[in-house]
Amino acid sequence: MDDLDTLEREACARIADAADLAALEVLRVEYLGKQGSVSALMKTLGAMAPEERQAQAPRIQSLRQSVSVALETRKAAMEKAELEQRLASETLDLTLPAPEMPKGSVHPVSQVMDELAEIFADMGFAVATGPEIEDDWHNFTALNMPESHPARAMHDTFYFPDAAPEGGRILLRTHTSPVQVRTMMSQGAPVRIIAPGRVYRSDSDATHTPMFHQVEGLVIDRGIHLGHLKWTLETFLKAFFEREDIVLRLRPSYFPFTEPSVEVDVGFAIEGGRRVLGGSGDAPGHGWMELLGSGMVNRRVIEMSGLDPDEWQGFAFGVGVDRLAMLKYGMDDLRAFFDGDVRWLRHYGFSPFDQPTLSAGVGARA
Ligand code: PHE
Repeated sequence: MDDLDTLEREACARIADAADLAALEVLRVEYLGKQGSVSALMKTLGAMAPEERQAQAPRIQSLRQSVSVALETRKAAMEKAELEQRLASETLDLTLPAPEMPKGSVHPVSQVMDELAEIFADMGFAVATGPEIEDDWHNFTALNMPESHPARAMHDTFYFPDAAPEGGRILLRTHTSPVQVRTMMSQGAPVRIIAPGRVYRSDSDATHTPMFHQVEGLVIDRGIHLGHLKWTLETFLKAFFEREDIVLRLRPSYFPFTEPSVEVDVGFAIEGGRRVLGGSGDAPGHGWMELLGSGMVNRRVIEMSGLDPDEWQGFAFGVGVDRLAMLKYGMDDLRAFFDGDVRWLRHYGFSPFDQPTLSAGVGARA
């Protein structure tokens, strides 16, 4: 009995004196560990005669209980003291900058659309929009593409199964040109707009995606001619590519909604294996790259849009926004634009604070 009392008193005193958690752990092993002295006493119970065990067991169990309570109490006290000490010594400085939060970035297509809007705004163009779900009258008929036109084929265009209320078919617009018609009809003349937005074609490979972006340009006024078109495109492309030596070549072409129609090429040089825009495409080592379609608005389109073609003339152009982004920022696979891969976006995305302007270029800070 006395031995057990001594053991208990001594154990509790040593536990109360333990300097730190490590010392406490040493004591726990010494008493309660597999080879510990209290554990050894527990084991002796097994070898005792039943009456003796009955007499001894409560005493030994209570010894074990008080040692483990002493250990836990001391441990809790140490942890509390440590916390109090930390609270007393550490202070929270509310003036320190907060940890940085992950920031989103502007998608290159949105960035280029912003650049286009800025550049054209400086030239007096407003931004117009139209529906992505169009009817075939606005998308085709009013643009002088009759029923038999090949662009209306099922394999080129996404049609909705049900007919429109007026009998025409409903489809995903194949270009931004219907916004020309809608704008002339809703606001009359004169018109000076760009219309950026999504368009859809049944097409898919490295350079074509079923959804892509275009920007339409339309000017309707009195006495507008091809010279105005050429100057506008030249001014826009110089500002967009941030180069003064942009040279354009206008090539005769055909679109049902423009007459005459011109395909616009831009001169480039090969530098370090890459195409770099600038200079005449006819210079040695240079070439011409097709950039956009344009022309003088066909008088039938002006008429179908409710204006008198003898009084109002104008030009229109349409250009792929994704293609402009690829050329300007050296991105080589169109499909990556729409994969939503954050690594690509982190690499090519723009800061939300970059505000493009005609004079300062893309990196201007808001
Ligand atoms: N809508 C034509 C296209 O998608 C481009 C274009 C627009 C051509 C305006 C001439 C005038 O290819």
